Amino acid sequence: RPKIILDTDPGGDDAFAFLWLMSLVKKELAELLAVTSVEGNVNAKLTFTNACKLLQLNNFSDIEVGRGVIKTQKEIDHAAHIHGNDGLGNLAQTLPSPQQSYENARYSDDILIEKLTAFPGEITMIALAPLTNLAAAETKSPGILKQAKEIIIMGGAFNVAGNVTPEAEFNIAYSPEAAEIVFNNSNHLVILPLDVTRSLIFRPEMAQKISEVNPESNITQFILALAQAMTQTSLSHRETQGIEGFLVHDAVTLAYLFYPETLQFCRARVEVEVVGKLTPGKTIFDRRHHAKIEANAWVAQQVNSANLFAAFVEDLKTLVRY
Ligand code: BDR
Ligand code: CA
Repeated sequence: RPKIILDTDPGGDDAFAFLWLMSLVKKELAELLAVTSVEGNVNAKLTFTNACKLLQLNNFSDIEVGRGVIKTQKEIDHAAHIHGNDGLGNLAQTLPSPQQSYENARYSDDILIEKLTAFPGEITMIALAPLTNLAAAETKSPGILKQAKEIIIMGGAFNVAGNVTPEAEFNIAYSPEAAEIVFNNSNHLVILPLDVTRSLIFRPEMAQKISEVNPESNITQFILALAQAMTQTSLSHRETQGIEGFLVHDAVTLAYLFYPETLQFCRARVEVEVVGKLTPGKTIFDRRHHAKIEANAWVAQQVNSANLFAAFVEDLKTLVRY
């Protein structure tokens, strides 16, 4: 079973990815070593607190949460207009208070370095957020990212428009420099871009189906309320082209790990624009028919969203059942 570190900025869709992972950890199909929170959708303190609360909701409060490395100069704003001012659809107050404190927490990059050093070649990194923590770890301890078994990133936009600028996707645009460091210093990189996640519309009926298994559970209540809150903001920001629901981008990483038959990939050398006037954060690979320098990533091209959601809903049902 994979040893996982989850790097995240919860984040409504991060929360759903989190719950999916929790269901698999509970079934002993994965081991969660740590959660490294990072600023992104909201500020670092909120993402830390949200990560702790999500763990606690699932009775995993003994798992360490790292505090995000602060990025002083960011290119783009947080995404509270999608995820709510608290990052969780304004539902964070309904969740149990965290036992770990932000002030006493270790920094996420230090946790990454410690774990990757302790388990060389064994750790699967799931990165659902700006790549600030991963880049900071690499800068502090050069070569450390090559110790990961695999780095799975939700981010980038290749053949589709961006979602925060005309060309760039949020997680990469937030810190193109961090993405560049990660792309250039990782051995086993898997990139799940907007090209596939923009068709992952989680619809309220799916939350309803999950809830029927155990309407009373706290997790059920949270799933229903978060799905509703995210649907509201997504509709008003036209994220789903008018279809009722919201894009559950980050959940695609769990599909890759546990239901890989739902995705199709190509191998490419991925690079990121860091200096462009109109295009910072744009992810690129060369599709021309000529010899390339060494490829560095697998990039998802297509997803079978019906099969992905079937697996997602079934696994969340088992999570709320007990
Ligand atoms: C990514 O940006 C964030 O707002 C989401 O949580 C996801 O990780 C999608 O572009
Ligand atoms: Ca995210």
